[in-house]
Amino acid sequence: MSSAQYQALEPQTSDEDNEDIERRAHQNHHRCPTAPHPMVRKGSVGMGRRRCVLPLVVAALFFIACCYLTLSGDTRIALGLGGGSEDSEEGSHHELDSMNFRPLNESLHICSESYEDRRQFMQDKPRSDYGQLPVIYFVTPTYPRREQIPELTRLAHTLLHVPRLHWLVADDQEKCNDFMDTLLNRFGIPFTHMVSPMPSKFRNEKPAPRGVANRRAALQWLRQHNLTNGILYFGDDDNTYDLRLFTEIRKTQRVSMFPVGLIADYGVSGPVVRKGKVVAFLDSWVAGRRWPVDMAGFAVNLEYMAQYPYVNMPYKPGYEEDLFLRSIGLKINQIEPRGNNCTEILVWHTQTKSKKLGMVRLESKYLDDRSNLGALLSNLKLMGVASTTENEGRNALISKNGKEKPHSDILS
Ligand code: UGA
Ligand code: MN
Repeated sequence: MSSAQYQALEPQTSDEDNEDIERRAHQNHHRCPTAPHPMVRKGSVGMGRRRCVLPLVVAALFFIACCYLTLSGDTRIALGLGGGSEDSEEGSHHELDSMNFRPLNESLHICSESYEDRRQFMQDKPRSDYGQLPVIYFVTPTYPRREQIPELTRLAHTLLHVPRLHWLVADDQEKCNDFMDTLLNRFGIPFTHMVSPMPSKFRNEKPAPRGVANRRAALQWLRQHNLTNGILYFGDDDNTYDLRLFTEIRKTQRVSMFPVGLIADYGVSGPVVRKGKVVAFLDSWVAGRRWPVDMAGFAVNLEYMAQYPYVNMPYKPGYEEDLFLRSIGLKINQIEPRGNNCTEILVWHTQTKSKKLGMVRLESKYLDDRSNLGALLSNLKLMGVASTTENEGRNALISKNGKEKPHSDILS
């Protein structure tokens, strides 16, 4: 995200909102002495009887609430009571409820998938050498635009070198696209191609929650497959990934973090590490985010994530990473710093200049198989790169020996 975009976001969460988020979190953690926990507040008692049993009920509720808060997070998870909240670093599910998370219930349609790894060698070693390494689930939100196919091609050529990886390509559009299926299939990397469009009400928002519907669909896919073994990483289609990143994230026990290069004003965003522990964050846009990190700056172990049934990512531009990490109950002392204690850059937030669809003016009678142009332009159309027109704009320039030629000279 550019710094201008970050600034555009600033007013969205006022200091008041931030204080509110923190206050709500605070209330959740210090509710015990004053009010009973909402989870045990259910069920009402008749007015008359209430007066005489009230002290007893209050005492019982107080006792239960205190027991609830004294149980360790893990015990509560085991009891199905949601994520723990012993310290203020963590989001309880009540806190998350109050942040207007929509349950993960996206329209998710699988276009095609393959679990077969058709690559024989990766990084000069046969596939069998990689044995039982945990699988990296590499989630790529993507959307139709002129640069989509080149971006995915470039990314695929990085991923081709990475063993034991399942590529979840989640397209922000209504319909499947054969061209994309053929492309993904050709790489030989195990993949799932799904479509899950951004709900229309968010489309015209500025800024819009980019890549959220599709990442949410991928989270749903992981949950539906009950995957509790492997590593989740959100890898946008336009970033640049160093192959060492994959070795580093594969070791993730709970949540690992590392700096991302080319982010906003400082050209970097990432954890501050002291004596091997993450103690704070360096990022030029804080805006109340407890976890001010880029989407590409962390990885999550699926076994850890499975403990948090309220895992979620909100439609809240700029806060997707923060609230996702809160939804999985992250605590600062659990974070595993990677990339030589966060001193190296293993991923870059590169951005591609976007241009509108190309327009080539050519009469349709010339788009037959007398030349390559019919097939070429039809391919470009399928890729969403360029379109042909018969009457808009200037005639397409076709030249020979440095001189423009009439189309009929070359194509009839
Ligand atoms: C930055 C972060 O790196 C993203 O992870 C984050 O989602 C984004 O900001 C945000 O908060 O909006 P940035 O380069 O600014 O990324 O955004 P894009 O690269 O344009 O979009 C992020 C991802 O979402 C990309 O993979 C892109 O293909 C996808 N996207 C974008 C959609 O799926 N739909 C869209 O309408 C736009
Ligand atoms: Mn980007």
